[in-house]
Amino acid sequence: MSATITEKYPNYSPGLEGVIAGISTISEIDSDRSSLQYRGYDVHDLAEYGSYEETAYLLIHGKLPTKSELDEFRKLLAAEREVPEAVYTALKALPKETHPMDAIRTAFSVLAPFDPDYEKPATDDAANVRKAVRIVAKAGTMVANGHRIRNGLEPLKPKPEHNTAQNFLYLMTGEEPPAKTVQVMDASLTLYAEHGFNASTFACRVTVATLSDLYSGIVTGIGTLRGPLHGGANEEAMKMLLEIDTPDKAQAWIDDALEGKKKIMGFGHREYKKRDSRAIYLTKVAKELGVEKGDTRFGDIADILEKTMEERKNIHPNVDFPAAYAYYLLGIPTDLYTPIFVIARVAGWSTHAIEQLRNNRLIRPKCIYEGDANLKYVPLEDR
Ligand code: CMC
Repeated sequence: MSATITEKYPNYSPGLEGVIAGISTISEIDSDRSSLQYRGYDVHDLAEYGSYEETAYLLIHGKLPTKSELDEFRKLLAAEREVPEAVYTALKALPKETHPMDAIRTAFSVLAPFDPDYEKPATDDAANVRKAVRIVAKAGTMVANGHRIRNGLEPLKPKPEHNTAQNFLYLMTGEEPPAKTVQVMDASLTLYAEHGFNASTFACRVTVATLSDLYSGIVTGIGTLRGPLHGGANEEAMKMLLEIDTPDKAQAWIDDALEGKKKIMGFGHREYKKRDSRAIYLTKVAKELGVEKGDTRFGDIADILEKTMEERKNIHPNVDFPAAYAYYLLGIPTDLYTPIFVIARVAGWSTHAIEQLRNNRLIRPKCIYEGDANLKYVPLEDR
């Protein structure tokens, strides 16, 4: 029998599983306790009693704000929500079928040179913090107005009295969002804001570690988040729930999918082998929302999928699963689910970029070469 990859190369961990790739003080995942803490605070407390703005402040500045610090921070975000017209001009030039993740990636590329600190070096910490605040302020504006543009509508101006959740929802619909929608959106942004060395954050750190700039790190992060094994899973999970359609079809669907060795979107996690802390909180919120809206079908389908996945594979839902049907119940178009993840995660990415640049070393791992060696060059005409 031939040796497995890990027997052949004991020092190699496929997918870098279990590899320690840095030291961070930003967040801690405790798989055994199914807990996630940002700077030492449980995310459930931040989602329940805090706000996305408090969370973003906590991540970027490393401490919870006082009341006056939070007021100042909210004012700063409100003053920074608008984006240059050039961003909208670029979004208008994209084909109609452009996915909103590609649109927001493009929007950040266009935005970068307009930042007042554009010319500052990557090592300018104060400039990086200012950039982070601008990035957090503008992400929701660009996702929501990008959505308007794709639907043939003109972008709207952000209102200074709106928080991040309200700003996104108002710009997306052109109407003042209901309080409950704002509350659920705000909690989901808090839960999505940060998650250690996940793929997109790690990619962002790799980018800035070359002394590239924060915006390049964000663009890298968006490109990495887009895939269905990472942030793209929330959109895919909703497509799956819509395909299943009603609870009476759920058992046959999941039996069939597992039989066919399909990956079930919104399930499984590299770090959580028991339960995803964020999914525990958001499942409760999504189910309550279903009861309030008089539409419990997705919660009922979720129960069947969760039970079967646990019994047969010992795999649990991740945050993307309840987020999907929570957003659906809030009336949000499916292809905005992953861009909403971006609106939240820019806080985490920016904070990691700042942390990386405060104590930087180029990130450059090795690979094992298994290709041919020492071949004799054959002239073109002899091949
Ligand atoms: N459905 C069915 N089987 C699964 C699933 C799933 N969702 N997730 C893992 N498995 C199985 C997998 O088939 C493999 O089985 P076997 O050893 O028999 O081949 C085993 O569990 C290990 O899976 P893996 O893919 O090697 O595990 P990983 O740590 O490399 O991947 C993951 C983690 C999240 C990519 C994976 O669980 C997955 O593809 N899940 C579906 C996509 C998803 O929901 N992604 C969102 C992740 S959390 C939020 C975020 O970061 O965006």
